[in-house]
Amino acid sequence: MTSVDMEYLTIALPKGKLFKPAVERLAAAGYQADSLSESSRKLVITNEAAKLRFIITKTSDLPTYVEYGAADIGIIGKDVLVEEKRDVYELIDLGFGFCRMVVAVPKHLQREKLSDYAHLRVATKYPVIAEQFFRDKGVQVEFIKLNGSIELAPMVGLAELIVDLVETGRTLKENNLLEIATVLPTTARLIANRVSFKMKMERIRQLTDQLKQQTESGWIQ
Ligand code: PRP
Repeated sequence: MTSVDMEYLTIALPKGKLFKPAVERLAAAGYQADSLSESSRKLVITNEAAKLRFIITKTSDLPTYVEYGAADIGIIGKDVLVEEKRDVYELIDLGFGFCRMVVAVPKHLQREKLSDYAHLRVATKYPVIAEQFFRDKGVQVEFIKLNGSIELAPMVGLAELIVDLVETGRTLKENNLLEIATVLPTTARLIANRVSFKMKMERIRQLTDQLKQQTESGWIQ
């Protein structure tokens, strides 16, 4: 770690649904920077006075930036952490970004039990988690990896099932999909690079404590 790196605390934030609540939480704890907004095209935003640097990453890449120390800490969903299997410290559950990963099927393809779906195709952005789930259940299926709009796959015959995240349930409903099993409940987590955690322990601990207090005081987003 260079002396410049040591001077700054670099926080990785994911584009997408967690961005806004993450920025709000951090700002309430006093960690902010001008023009830190989702609509900004800037990917690195620095607050010189506070020696803070924010980097904005694609959601699934965030744990990689933290593992390699390009960011000291980051905020990311448990789902992405499990899927990406990166070597980082998971510090705290931030208590926001509640979602659940589910198996869903079009209503007209619904069967009685999970094993009745054996040998069918499952479209997902989360092949690691999905494979683990079906393996644990002893049901053999074929996985098709997609990068988004997973609900489209069963509508056009690309797959019979999907494994995807549900927040309000609106997307499933609008696409006539039924939730048939829960795979993983998920929330936002604060993660840290292993070296940064030791080298910048005091700063990271301060931030962690503040975010923990917000969660414990019942901050709802
Ligand atoms: C996520 C998820 C669902 C949707 C669920 O997609 O993959 O499609 O949100 O939210 P709901 O239950 O509140 O309707 P996202 O918007 O992140 O985009 P993606 O389809 O590209 O993954």
